[in-house]
Amino acid sequence: MLISRLCRVGFRVARELSRGGCTHTYRTRYYTQGPCRQYQQSLLEFLPEIRAFHGAVLQKYHGISTSASDGASAGGDEEKEEISVTFVSKDGEDIPIRVPIGISMLEAAHENDIELEGACEGSLACSTCHVIVMDMEYYNKLEDPVDEENDMLDLAFGLTETSRLGCQIVASSELDGIRLAIPAATRNFAVDGYVAKPH
Ligand code: FES
Repeated sequence: MLISRLCRVGFRVARELSRGGCTHTYRTRYYTQGPCRQYQQSLLEFLPEIRAFHGAVLQKYHGISTSASDGASAGGDEEKEEISVTFVSKDGEDIPIRVPIGISMLEAAHENDIELEGACEGSLACSTCHVIVMDMEYYNKLEDPVDEENDMLDLAFGLTETSRLGCQIVASSELDGIRLAIPAATRNFAVDGYVAKPH
């Protein structure tokens, strides 16, 4: 398939050359009309295949991998896609995990069998996902809590200055290294029917 497409490009090139319409390589000039313009468009159209073909030839006959730099950038992306988070259990045990960017700490805890309740599953109707951010530096990096979160936090057991709801902390690259303590107990008034009063 690739070979036949490349052959078609070669045929177009040969045809244009035989018409005498092009005497320069496509790298040196940019043509706005005429057969050379069509030739350029053909080359641009097939550029990915030409590159792939070229890479395959280098790999097969010279042992050169043209994907090394691609791999490095892919690796770099992977590094950015996850962050390190440490939960500190009720017993004071450190539980380090890797958390994909974009998911909440509640989801991350559940995926790693960490005991963080989350009775309302992130709908801001309980305080059972209460966590304490152990480092003020990280606490200050978080988005400010919305009113509903503050209402629920008011009901949380053992509220501290750096308390947040785990379902509202979403992993981002700047939170890499964050430590979250799980309080010794939770209150679950809201899920049991308690309706928080607005401030
Ligand atoms: Fe209920 Fe977070 S799980 S508020």
